[in-house]
Amino acid sequence: MSKLKIAVLISGRGSNLKALIEQASEPNFPAEIALVITNKKDAGGIAHAEKAGIPYVFLDHKAFTNRHDFDMAMHAELLTRGIDFVFLAGFMRVLSKEFVAKWHDKLVNIHPSLLPAFPGVDTHERALVTGVKFHGCTVHFVREEVDAGPIITQEILKVEDKDTPETLAARLLPLEHKAYKHTLRLIAEKRYLVKGNRVETWD
Ligand code: GAR
Repeated sequence: MSKLKIAVLISGRGSNLKALIEQASEPNFPAEIALVITNKKDAGGIAHAEKAGIPYVFLDHKAFTNRHDFDMAMHAELLTRGIDFVFLAGFMRVLSKEFVAKWHDKLVNIHPSLLPAFPGVDTHERALVTGVKFHGCTVHFVREEVDAGPIITQEILKVEDKDTPETLAARLLPLEHKAYKHTLRLIAEKRYLVKGNRVETWD
């Protein structure tokens, strides 16, 4: 059977991309990372794609007159490569509603907070300022509203008195990788069902 073709969109260091590549490299895994797209020419994550022999494309959002045109260029690239499913992994661009609609239930994001708490940026700082005792990460299907959509999985982290935004980010990162690997497995093995705003998954 042919493998599910996954594209990963990145803007930076790409540690979540690396985790996805590791997961997909398991023997007989039913999905492959078939394409990486970056909007940053110097994104550190490109090295992970190169090392794994995965094709990557740089699309400079600044070269497009508007968000819609940039997103449609990405969409065309995804179609050309026969991509089935898209993972956002530190892709720091808001996507147009047209793009989100075209990839409905085929587009997932990882966010460094326990959504619906702290959508947007600076999540670790805001968690500390708010005084929450638990922090974490969320993987969700992407909808038009930023950092919202049916939740697939979450990982939690206990906030310690001595935590800083940096220590929270560092302690959360391995949990992000775990959550995104788990999500890739659920999707590749088709062990999920989106029911309205809820996602059912099973072993
Ligand atoms: C991750 O912490 C991810 O959750 C966050 O960017 C980082 C990317 O790290 N994403 C967002 O903030 C999206 N709103 P990585 O490049 O090492 O995967």
